[in-house]
Amino acid sequence: MILVLNGPNLNLLGRREPGVYGSGTLEDLERQCEEWGAELGVTVTCRQSNFEGQLLEWVHEAAEQGFRGIVLNPGALTHYSYALRDAISGQDLPVVEVHLSNVDAREAFRHVSVTAGVCRGKISGLGARGYRYALEELTELTG
Ligand code: DQA
Repeated sequence: MILVLNGPNLNLLGRREPGVYGSGTLEDLERQCEEWGAELGVTVTCRQSNFEGQLLEWVHEAAEQGFRGIVLNPGALTHYSYALRDAISGQDLPVVEVHLSNVDAREAFRHVSVTAGVCRGKISGLGARGYRYALEELTELTG
């Protein structure tokens, strides 16, 4: 089982800056992730929250809930949440950070990720396919 976590404002996909994030909704993205998981032979569970504390708790509990890795798009928390960074480094599962947009081609504040340094890697700018690559990585790594 792999956990896909989307953070703040990602519930607005489809109507939020479609020029940046595309026209697909969160539901579309989550359905795609489940389908990609099925192709890879792994069950994918998707969750989204606008609340930092909720994301922390999902990260804390993931290993004991039987997940073997986490695909994480922390949204803007990427750029400032030391609490999320500490939650990632405080548990043992591999985490791959994903961004739909190319954060390095955008505003300067998005060039900083306080979370990527404690993740296995970071995929940015490849749209929804970035989640697929992250799922592939975690499946191979933990298979
Ligand atoms: C994002 C990039 C972040 O900078 C932004 O705050 C988001 C989405 C992305 O997927 O491109 O909410 O993580």
